[in-house]
Amino acid sequence: MEIRIDKLENIREAAKQFVAAIDQSTVFAFYGKMGAGKTTFIKAICEELGVNDVITSPTFAIVNEYRSDTTDELIYHFDFYRIKKIDEVYDMGYEDYFYSGALCFIEWPELIEDVLPGDAVKVTIEETEDGGRTVKY
Ligand SMILES: Nc1ncnc2c1ncn2[C@@H]1O[C@H](COP(=O)(O)OP(=O)(O)OP(=O)(O)O)[C@@H](O)[C@H]1O
Ligand SMILES: [Mg+2]
Repeated sequence: MEIRIDKLENIREAAKQFVAAIDQSTVFAFYGKMGAGKTTFIKAICEELGVNDVITSPTFAIVNEYRSDTTDELIYHFDFYRIKKIDEVYDMGYEDYFYSGALCFIEWPELIEDVLPGDAVKVTIEETEDGGRTVKY
């Protein structure tokens, strides 16, 4: 699957395509360089899923919890950028989130690769020369 975001104004359309393609998978690992657009795309996906809360990067909290007003389901958004030891991930009880059945969107999954569920969907976001983004998985 490849989704093209030619410019920021069209991100909702791209998020809509992403949401439409979600099947049984619940854990989505977003790979991409700093500034690639992980937070921005996850935010658009959450909005598309009916989250009306303020959506910010969870960098300082590791995990942010949102609720979809459409489905009343919880959605978790992780940012592991600041993780220094895998113990921090055990201490936060990652299993309770990853195996909860709730949708989990993860930034910087490469820092927790050892505990990433085997069936996590690996999504890559890259900036293209024209300033757009390509989402592949
Ligand atoms: N699809 C896009 N098209 C154009 N600009 C974008 C797009 N997505 C994100 N940006 C811009 O890129 C910048 C970085 O985006 P964002 O914070 O989402 O990146 P990130 O991958 O989460 O970075 P980090 O690794 O630091 O968490 C922001 O200024 C944002 O406006
Ligand atoms: Mg981010």
